[in-house]
Amino acid sequence: MCGIVGFVSSFSPSASDHDALDVVMGGLARLEYRGYDSAGVALVPGDGTLVSRKKSGKLANLTELIEQDPMPQAMTGIGHTRWATHGGPTDRNAHPHLADGGKLALIHNGIIENFAQLKEHLLAEGVEFTSETDTEVAAHQLAKNYRVTEDLTEAMRLLVGQIEGAFTLLAVHADLPGVVVAARRNSPLVIGLGEGENFLGSDVAAFIDHSRKAVEIGQDQIVTITPTSVDIIDAAGAPVAGEPYDVTWDAASAEKGGFPSFMDKEIHDQPQAVADTLLGRMDPSGRLVLDEMRIDESLLKSIDKIIVIACGTAAYAGQVAKYAIEHWCRIPVEVELAHEFRYRDPIVTEKTLVVAISQSGETMDTIMAVRHARQQGAKVIAICNTFGSTIPRESDAALYTHAGPEIAVASTKAFLSQIVACYLLGLYLAQLRGNKFQDEIRMILGELQQIPAKIQRILDETAQQVTDLAIAQKDTESVLFLGRHVGYPVAMEGALKLKELAYIHAEGFAAGELKHGPIALIDEGKLVFIVVPSKRGRDSLHAKVVSNIQEVRARGARTVVIAEEGDEEVRAYASDVIYVPASPTLMAPLLTTVPLQIFAMELATVKGLDVDQPRNLAKSVTVE
Ligand code: F6R
Repeated sequence: MCGIVGFVSSFSPSASDHDALDVVMGGLARLEYRGYDSAGVALVPGDGTLVSRKKSGKLANLTELIEQDPMPQAMTGIGHTRWATHGGPTDRNAHPHLADGGKLALIHNGIIENFAQLKEHLLAEGVEFTSETDTEVAAHQLAKNYRVTEDLTEAMRLLVGQIEGAFTLLAVHADLPGVVVAARRNSPLVIGLGEGENFLGSDVAAFIDHSRKAVEIGQDQIVTITPTSVDIIDAAGAPVAGEPYDVTWDAASAEKGGFPSFMDKEIHDQPQAVADTLLGRMDPSGRLVLDEMRIDESLLKSIDKIIVIACGTAAYAGQVAKYAIEHWCRIPVEVELAHEFRYRDPIVTEKTLVVAISQSGETMDTIMAVRHARQQGAKVIAICNTFGSTIPRESDAALYTHAGPEIAVASTKAFLSQIVACYLLGLYLAQLRGNKFQDEIRMILGELQQIPAKIQRILDETAQQVTDLAIAQKDTESVLFLGRHVGYPVAMEGALKLKELAYIHAEGFAAGELKHGPIALIDEGKLVFIVVPSKRGRDSLHAKVVSNIQEVRARGARTVVIAEEGDEEVRAYASDVIYVPASPTLMAPLLTTVPLQIFAMELATVKGLDVDQPRNLAKSVTVE
C-alpha cells in the first residue's frame, strides 16, 4: 500500500503552484499515511533528460536530499511514498525505478506475483538490476516493450498483459515531456482533472489542493494524461469514457479516504488487507512460499513444538492460529504473551519453532522475547506488517502481512491479516511435513480467497445495525464477550477493542468457563456478546454455545449474538442477532471480529472519544 502522485502541466513551472516538484511533494505529504519507509520523485524537465531523487525513511529525508541536491523546474513529474513489500526499505529499493539507460522512470503500488519469471528472462537478455524489488522488473519490461512499440501507452498496455498480481503503475520518459502513463489492477488510481494540467493519485488526497474533479479508473485500464487530455483505454486497447465526479471531502478527510477516522478507514480496508496478504504466495509449481526464509527446510520438518509470542491483539491472532496450525500440522502450539515468555525459563530446544507476531515489528516486549528464544537455540519466524523493522530483521524468517500502514492506535486490519499470515504459515509447515496435499491446501486457500468479499458484505449490510446498537448502548458500563474454540480469542479481541476505544470495562471469556465463576457477573440488563459457531461440521460446538446463551439470558442478560446467516435457532435466545456470511469454522474469526470492531468504534464515537488515539496508548510500545 504505497502512495502515488503524477502531474502534468502546461503552465510555467516558475509559479510554485505549477512546478512539478512542488505539486508532487505536496501530494506525497498528503499520501504519507499510505507508506512512509521511503520516498522518491522523477521529473521530466523537457530537455531530453529525466531527473530523479529517492531516499529511505520519511518524506522529510527526501526533502532534505533535494535541498542538498536541487532538482530542475519541470512541468511533468511523478512521486512515490513506499510501504515495502519486496526488498527492504533502503535507498536502492525506493521508487522510482529507472530503465532505458535512466530515461524511463516507473513507480508502483502493489505486488507483482510473477516478477521472478520475468526477471529471469530479462537477466538472460543482459538487463542489470540495482534493487531487490518487483517494481524494477516492471520498469525494465516496460522499457523493453517501449523499444518495440515506440509508444509508451502501448508499451504499458502490453505490460498489463504480462504481469500478474496487484498494481498501480505510473511511468514517465525523458523523451516525452508532458506525458504520464498509468495502469491499474486491484490497486487504486484516480485521475484529477485540472485546467491546462492533470493529476494522478492513489486517492484524491494526492491532488485535493489543486483539483476537485476526479475520474476513477477501472480494472486493467491504461490512462495517458497530458496537460490538456486524458485518454483511458482497456486491456484490449479500446477507448473507455471516464465518469468525472466532484470531490466533496475536505483535505483532512481525503487522507482518511473520506472516512471520519483512520480506524473507520482501516476497518473498511480489511477486504483489501486480507486479499493482499494472500497475494503471491504460490510459486509456479503450486507450492506455498514465505517472503524471507533463512531456516533450513529439513530443520522445519523436524520441529516438535511451536511457541507463538506476541502482545495484545497480535497475541489473540496467535490464539486463533493455534487451532488451525495444530489441526493442519499436528504440532503442539503454545501461545504466550511476549513479556511473560521473556521472564521465565521456557522449555525451548533446537526443535522449537518460535513465531513472533507483531504489526509494528518494534514492540520491545516481543523483540526481547525473540532474542530470548534465539539465545536458547530456537528458530524464529516473524509475522509482521512492517518491512525491515527490528523483529523480522532479528528473526530467521519473515512472513509479511501486507496490510498497509495501520495508523489508528487500536489494531484492526493487522489482526485479520495476522490470522491469514499464520494460516499461510500453518499450510506451509503442513506442506513441508506432508500432512496436507496440494489439493487440500488449494481448497483451504480457496476458502481464504472468499473472505474479502464476505468481509465486504458485513461492511455493506451489517455495519448500520451494529452502529444503531452501539448508539443505543452508549451508557453501558460493563460488557462481557463469550466464545468457544476460535470464537474465544475473538471474544477477547472484542473486549480489548471496547476497553481501549470506549474506556468501558469489558471481559472476554471462554463460554464454557462461564459456570466456573463469571456467570456471577450477570445481572438484569448486562450486555453480553456471544460468538456462535456454525452448526455445520462434525464437531460443531453450536449446541453448547446456544446453552450458554440460554444461561445468561435466564439471568436477565441482554444477549447480542454473532451468528452465521441462516442460523434461526439462536433467535429465540437473542435480544439482537448480528449475522455474518457462512464460512468454515477456522475462517469464521475473519468475519465475526468485524462487527465487534465496529461496535467498539461506534460506541467510542457516540461518547465523543478520539478513536484514532485513545488515551494512555501508543501505536508502537517501544519500552518494556
Ligand atoms: C490493540 C493493539 C495492541 C497491539 C500490541 C502489539 O488494539 O493494537 O494490543 O496489538 O501492542 O503491537 P504489535 O503488533 O505492533 O507488536
